[in-house]
Amino acid sequence: MAVAQVNTFDVYKVREDFPILKRTVNGKPLVYFDNAATSQTPKKVINAIVDYYSNYNANIHRGVHTLSQEATDAYEQARFKLQKHFNAAKAHEIIFTSGTTHGINLVANGFAAILKAGDEIIVSALEHHSNIVPWQILCEKTGAILKVIPMNEEGELLMDAYHKLLSNKTKLVFCNHISNALGTINPIEEIITKAHEIGAAVLIDGAQAAPHIQVDVQALDVDFYVVSGHKMCGPTGVGMLYGKESWLHTLPPYQGGGEMIAEVTFEKTTYADLPHKFEAGTPNICGGIAFGYAIDYLHEIGFGNIQQQENELLLYATEQLQKILGLKIYGTSAHKTSVISFNIEGVHPYDIGTIVDKLGVAVRTGHHCAQPIMDFYKIPGTVRASFAFYNTKQEVDVLVDAVKRAKMMLS
Ligand code: ALA
Repeated sequence: MAVAQVNTFDVYKVREDFPILKRTVNGKPLVYFDNAATSQTPKKVINAIVDYYSNYNANIHRGVHTLSQEATDAYEQARFKLQKHFNAAKAHEIIFTSGTTHGINLVANGFAAILKAGDEIIVSALEHHSNIVPWQILCEKTGAILKVIPMNEEGELLMDAYHKLLSNKTKLVFCNHISNALGTINPIEEIITKAHEIGAAVLIDGAQAAPHIQVDVQALDVDFYVVSGHKMCGPTGVGMLYGKESWLHTLPPYQGGGEMIAEVTFEKTTYADLPHKFEAGTPNICGGIAFGYAIDYLHEIGFGNIQQQENELLLYATEQLQKILGLKIYGTSAHKTSVISFNIEGVHPYDIGTIVDKLGVAVRTGHHCAQPIMDFYKIPGTVRASFAFYNTKQEVDVLVDAVKRAKMMLS
């Protein structure tokens, strides 16, 4: 007889999966609130890495020997896991990259062969530098023009302004799904639909979304979606570019090298089929396999549980931090994930970060690779606390006390 599954999410049990959460920093228990920069790694992923190097380390797609076949099978299995997780129609629409930045640059490089002078491309005011600079380089190469969707005080995009920017000159639109600096969840469904109405392609930077919400690339009808493994409990140095098959056929390869060719002569080279056309050289084999295990792990936790736990932390931390006199939160949209960017009047964010670290709390300080957002608020940077499902309210209390201590010492 089928038994209904009971929701058994127990954050303290989940924390047992993460060896690093047991360590101390400066003599205090670690409170890790820098998850938007990189997430921590569960034993399942660590074990997959150890298993790979202990038992079947070999190059892939190249050898007939057993180890190479085992490594190839595991790597391609990881591609299937990503395909299933992001609901791509085809496994060859999943390209392994070194991370989000690599995925964006791959697409930008491809569009250099397509865009003409005077074409327009649109980015949002909420972008990370990795979703600004590659397009500026592309504009320099092609003579295309970069336009920016403005934002408001709450850290939300002005969608009316976006609609007005769209024209028959628009060829591409780029936007993050969730802002790394503020946590705002952008209305990407509308961004994609409107861009498609005028025939423009859309790339969504999902680096900050994929760790928190279940993403369905077919439901979104997005042309390109990029993520990083290390923000999703996987290792650094691996990521994914999803591209619609037709676009991946249209774009030229990003890098030349081994494994991306069909035939090479000194007169002419023909390229391999997808996905290999975009995967020149020996990839991060272990990273790709471990990324697959990280996806498995996130499913074991469940995205419903992840969202519930992170929302509770966001609400609780917002409420507690707001009680500190002189503390201002940047990014106050009703649609946001578990990121709180803040400053205390008259105190430099770097100084707060340094003091709370002495108390065991890891936060990021600075412009968060999103200088245009800081310029909008006319500030040099913020303190950013970003929560994951393995964080607790008790840890939020430690942060709040640490910030109060820092305020007392600095102001
Ligand atoms: N993009 C990462 C962050 O927001 C590194 O911290």
